[in-house]
Amino acid sequence: MLQSPRKYFCSASFLFLVLIINSPLLNAQQISEEQVTARANDLLKQMTLDEKIAQLSQLPGNKDPLFVKNAGFPEDVIQKLGAGSVLWVPEPKQIDRLQHLAVEQSRMHIPILFGLDVIHGYRTIFPAPLAMASSWNPKLVEQAQSVAAQEARSIGIAWTFAPMVDIARDARWGRMIEGAGEDPYLGAAIARAQVLGFQGGAQVAPDHVLACMKHYAGYGAADGGRDYDSSYIPEELMWNLYLPPFKAAVDAGVGSAMSAYMDLNDVPASGNKWLLTDVLRKTWNFKGFVVSDAFAIDSLIKHGYARDGSDAAYKAFTAGLNMDMASGTYLKYLGPLVQQGRISEQQIDDMARPILETKIRMGLFEHPYADLAASEKVLNDPEHLKLARTAAQQSMILLRNENNLLPLDKSKLQSIAVIGPLGDATIDLLSMWGSGTAPGPVVSIVDGIRSKVGSAVKVEFAHGPNISRSIPSPFEDISFLKMKEQPKQSPAEAKKAFDEAVAAAKRSDLAVMVLGEIDLMSAESASRSSLGLSNQQEQLLEAVVATGKPVVLVLINGRPLEINWASQHVPAILEAWYPGGQGGNAVADLLFGDANPSAHLTVSWPRGAGEEPLYYNHNLTQLPETDPKFKSRYLDALSTPLYPFGYGLSYTTFAFDNLNVSPASAAVSGTIDVTADVTNTGKREGTAVVQLYIHQRAGSASRPVRQLKGFERVTLAPGAKQTVHFTLGKEELQFYSPLLKEWVVEPEQFDVWVGGDSTATLHGEFALTK
Ligand code: NOJ
Repeated sequence: MLQSPRKYFCSASFLFLVLIINSPLLNAQQISEEQVTARANDLLKQMTLDEKIAQLSQLPGNKDPLFVKNAGFPEDVIQKLGAGSVLWVPEPKQIDRLQHLAVEQSRMHIPILFGLDVIHGYRTIFPAPLAMASSWNPKLVEQAQSVAAQEARSIGIAWTFAPMVDIARDARWGRMIEGAGEDPYLGAAIARAQVLGFQGGAQVAPDHVLACMKHYAGYGAADGGRDYDSSYIPEELMWNLYLPPFKAAVDAGVGSAMSAYMDLNDVPASGNKWLLTDVLRKTWNFKGFVVSDAFAIDSLIKHGYARDGSDAAYKAFTAGLNMDMASGTYLKYLGPLVQQGRISEQQIDDMARPILETKIRMGLFEHPYADLAASEKVLNDPEHLKLARTAAQQSMILLRNENNLLPLDKSKLQSIAVIGPLGDATIDLLSMWGSGTAPGPVVSIVDGIRSKVGSAVKVEFAHGPNISRSIPSPFEDISFLKMKEQPKQSPAEAKKAFDEAVAAAKRSDLAVMVLGEIDLMSAESASRSSLGLSNQQEQLLEAVVATGKPVVLVLINGRPLEINWASQHVPAILEAWYPGGQGGNAVADLLFGDANPSAHLTVSWPRGAGEEPLYYNHNLTQLPETDPKFKSRYLDALSTPLYPFGYGLSYTTFAFDNLNVSPASAAVSGTIDVTADVTNTGKREGTAVVQLYIHQRAGSASRPVRQLKGFERVTLAPGAKQTVHFTLGKEELQFYSPLLKEWVVEPEQFDVWVGGDSTATLHGEFALTK
């Protein structure tokens, strides 16, 4: 029940609120868009300038000095003026306290929209986004994010800063793990699924959260893969590669967007009118609101784009940025800018309106508080754990499986050594953001294996030398993120741990090595100049393989790593990414054959960091890598990927044939139907990811050698066959032509391939005519 101090009983706005609460508008989901706008305008009429500016502000609710900086702690502002949003508060009681302050003590009683990085779970932590995208299963991704949303909303978080839909072509960039990989078509499908999952539909459902597509736009193209560095992206790549997942999110109904940190072609994204107004609002008709990334408005000064705070506020605001995340720049400077006549109060209203409309649509005025007792049921729903386990199973990629070492038969094993610095990891399995909410218990890999094999098989664990970064992460000190380095060891300590690990392998029938990166090594501010297995992990792997025992390598990491030696000498390699709370169980399910690997790479796997950026959808050149004499761009290594985009093994095998492309020729306005058969040619049930690629042979621009334009997961019993059907229409065939400066479908010849990865050989062709 809404309680208000006596003195507010006479206030007009409170009476308005009471009227609204008692009105048939109670269920905000049912009110029309006109009513939403009318109600927002009504509020704006009653608000002072400062109250409106407070709605344009997102305040840090966490006392960490890195966050609070110059914005101060939020209570004072909330009580006096209210606040558009508060972030970085994962604790339900704290949210509740601040919401009571806003609704009961601020003059306008406007509820706060609480935001948090609920990127892949709140209590139930699902695999990290790159892992979930590797499932090529948008439906599953939607379900997982719907669970994440329901858990978060149940404790009062109404807004997530997700999905991250940045295209990432460079594994050196630490944030590759937060997105869906390198491909715009798959990226768009996963973006759409995440928006629908988080929001519960195109509109935010009462028990779901507002989604926020980020980082708008071009963050993944940071120079050299160095986090936060400038991006230089030509117009054609912006439209054809980096923007499609954002466009897909807008079309799916995403309610908010976050502007990126970096300079885009010399204009910082958070002050970039072309991005925030021309493309987002004018071209795409986006009706939600834009928040900056953290402190990004203030950073316009650091970029050398704004002269001072006032200039930064002016440039961000007039570029189209509605809400200031945590820098306090709007709070301080927008008022004076209005007084100076540089910004009108009408402009302030126009920027505040979408924020108020969002709160109205979401029913926050009617239901500002979470029911914390009821939330326990949502947070502890056993179905959520089941889904997290399924998602983890479907996210892990089998990269190698010589002589069918996997799946393991536990009846033939007496002892297993689980070896490596991530073998008993828990928080590290969650990745950066999964650790920053309120994660439930995490099943480590050694525990998952132990519970799978029971007491009949002896499982011992040897950690090996610790792993850590050479340059510490700024995020280690932020208490709510819970991420920690493994302590530095003396050479003697590291050698002892190394020797113990090799001895454990010698004593056992089989070694499962769990290597990779702690979560601080693949996240924000975690770019790498090399991609090797750090801190003696490579040496440990080689030493364990030298014992002659069969070795399974399980990788826990956020990006492809340099595993050239392993790819030739370790018989089985499972890429598990950051698999979430059920990671240990899912690894055990896959290693012992209770689940069959079905995930596929959504990034090209390089042979080394020197190959980056590496992507499959590059253009043809005068001497393609298929030319026997010019087969590499380098003199010291092959320039092809170690594992191509789309690649992934199964415990069964699949054959693709009977490709049918029809009609052979169609008008540019027409459609082409493509069918192909996929057959399970192995001895187990398994799931194939059937992928369709096209290539336009000539036109007003050089087109990529291949482009993904369709995919489907197909589960087949041994020997079973299914025909898969794809349609190629305008969406799939068009591209933005840099020459013609418009979207075109061109009357040209096209190749088409269908198969299990981006090197598929089953080939057909078709033509488009005028
Ligand atoms: C900075 C990150 O770049 C962004 O992804 C995140 O959502 C915000 N901080 C809020 O934590």
